[in-house]
Amino acid sequence: MSSKKTRKNRIFFESDEMRVRIINDDFLTTDLIENNSVDLIVTSPPYNVNIQYSSFSDGIPYEKYLGFTEKWLKKPIS
Ligand SMILES: C[S@@+](CC[C@H](N)C(=O)[O-])C[C@H]1O[C@@H](n2cnc3c(N)ncnc32)[C@H](O)[C@@H]1O
Repeated sequence: MSSKKTRKNRIFFESDEMRVRIINDDFLTTDLIENNSVDLIVTSPPYNVNIQYSSFSDGIPYEKYLGFTEKWLKKPIS
């Protein structure tokens, strides 16, 4: 069985008028966020304090971390 995420299983929740959508996907590469559709971000991003996640490195060089942070901050307005 393929483990590839489909559009349907990347959308965890969607309200009736699609005004609220909870997406379970890579924020940097997801195609599920339409331009100019983000009003508010509530987040708990990686803080680069070396927490042991199964699929994410939380202890990267500071310059790389700044680049990553800049990317996800710009994503909703790009
Ligand atoms: C500080 S933790 C947040 C923990 C969460 N608040 C909780 O209580 O479980 C940062 C999370 O961001 C996730 N993450 C890192 N890069 C991501 C990306 N590109 N897209 C989506 N999530 C990402 C990590 O896997 C990690 O779970």
